[in-house]
Amino acid sequence: MSKKPTLTTSAGAPVESNQTTRTAGARGPALLTDYQLIEKLAHQNRERIPERTVHAKGWGLQGTFTVTHDISKYTCAKVFNEIGKKTEVLSRWSTVAGESGAADTERDVRGFSLKFYTEDGNWDMVGNNTPVFFIRDGYKFPDFIRTQKRHPKTNLRSPEAMFDFWAAQPECVHQVTILMSDRGIPKNPMYMNGYGSHTFSMWNAEGERFWVKFHFKTQQGHEHYTNEESEKLIGKTRESYQEDLINAVEEGKYPKWTLYIQVMPEEEAGNQAYNPFDLTKVWPHKDFPLIEVGELEMHTVPENYFQMIENAAYSPSNVVPGIGFSPDKMLQARVFSYADAHRYRLGTHYEALPANAPKNAKVNHYHKDGAMRFFTNDFDNPDAYYEPNQHNGPVAQVENPEPPLRIDGDADRYYQEDADIDYVQPRALYEMFSDEQKQRLYNNYAAAMGPCSDSVKERWYAVLEKVHPDYAAGVRKANEALDSDVNAVPVTDDTPLEDN
Ligand code: NDP
Ligand code: HEM
Repeated sequence: MSKKPTLTTSAGAPVESNQTTRTAGARGPALLTDYQLIEKLAHQNRERIPERTVHAKGWGLQGTFTVTHDISKYTCAKVFNEIGKKTEVLSRWSTVAGESGAADTERDVRGFSLKFYTEDGNWDMVGNNTPVFFIRDGYKFPDFIRTQKRHPKTNLRSPEAMFDFWAAQPECVHQVTILMSDRGIPKNPMYMNGYGSHTFSMWNAEGERFWVKFHFKTQQGHEHYTNEESEKLIGKTRESYQEDLINAVEEGKYPKWTLYIQVMPEEEAGNQAYNPFDLTKVWPHKDFPLIEVGELEMHTVPENYFQMIENAAYSPSNVVPGIGFSPDKMLQARVFSYADAHRYRLGTHYEALPANAPKNAKVNHYHKDGAMRFFTNDFDNPDAYYEPNQHNGPVAQVENPEPPLRIDGDADRYYQEDADIDYVQPRALYEMFSDEQKQRLYNNYAAAMGPCSDSVKERWYAVLEKVHPDYAAGVRKANEALDSDVNAVPVTDDTPLEDN
């Protein structure tokens, strides 16, 4: 017998051969009793799970968050309760629209997800590399995503659909400006910021609530690819992010981010010109300065990508005492959507998988059974399987519960009209860009919307005009230059493929 470990079936029985099928005679057919062959083929058929409906392509590391500043006056969350405190974190960065095999350096928003394994359970920060989002009502999300995915007939991505939708949702111009700017193609996740984007809440031990925004600022600086650089790179490798992350860790160059928060006292929410719960808006730094909290360092490549990254189930619903939601209605849609997606993608007990199981909190719930129940949960007493009970089963108790939130207003569907306020912040961003940055912005638009019909282009110029006339003129000029350059018939959904 060899000293190597013995190969076994999933039931643990030693395997006779892993290379040769059992056949009737040297040249004969396979025998159905070769269960080892059947098991091997059957497992291969089940190796893939549904990919995430969005953010399917991703990369992740394990790391540590360290508190460097005291924010206990804003929150009683244990993850922040002591300077020097360290908490294990699992990150997953992603692109939004591409499938799981998409090239890494495509122009797209990047997801920035962090799972903090705190002693009060897991806190998930499921953000993006942008401080705002395209829409502010979760009702629109499935339609928005449809425009980012493939056309039902051509099975191609459709710039026509993207800009048709955006032109009808002018509040998206803030996010589209970021997407078309230099930051639309980060060199890799190490060179981008992460934002919680939504307004969240914190409450302290005295029960005072604050509205809060989370900012993870890269310590590596911002580095990006131009369209041309990215196209060249994709020609060489589609997996440059994964390669860069693995190389950085192997060389000991662990990427770091500084966590800051912006804090708005609860009663000040009504005093802003903009709605502070509108996900298409930032809070200007001069009004709400960044407050330093701690440092995130990602230092370990998970041993098994599928186990830790593909199985990672992030959800904005995973909050811990001291950190909570806000009246942002997009956030409420997300609080429902993610756990629902995980039950479909990973199964009923997805939270017991190694990536998702709390590492520093004991799980005590009364959820029972179901497919793949592979954990025990008897609270040291098999009789305590319902609640209330007389068997010392777990009971609901929180040291510092969330303070009550006064809510009023008539239940209705409040249509948020496109208003001047929607253009103020995109304008501030546009005006920050240097002439070179502006020219690249225009060129990036031309590359993205070249294939669009004239009607869609004109509608989008009308949106840009409201941000700044120079912005509209610059994009129009770049589009016209590209048109006369290529002198080709654009591919749009209205153009039959055979004509192209
Ligand atoms: P500040 O001058 O204080 O901040 C400007 C911000 O813009 C910085 O956070 C900077 O990020 C960020 N930035 C620079 N280039 C880009 C880009 N291409 N895409 C996205 N962000 C970029 O100004 P204000 O706080 O008054 O904000 C002005 C505008 O800046 C806003 O309208 C918004 O568009 C944008 N912005 C604001 C943020 C905020 O939370 N207030 C956050 C991010 C953007 P960094 O410091 O990492 O370089
Ligand atoms: C992934 C829904 C808005 C960031 C997902 C997934 C769903 C979803 C269903 C896939 C989850 C999975 O299968 O694991 C929604 C809905 C939204 C919304 C309904 C609006 C109502 C946003 C916003 C952000 C965001 C505003 C960022 C600020 C992410 C990220 C992921 C993700 C980062 C990937 C998580 C991971 O790494 O596994 N979203 N989303 N989403 N979403 Fe959203």
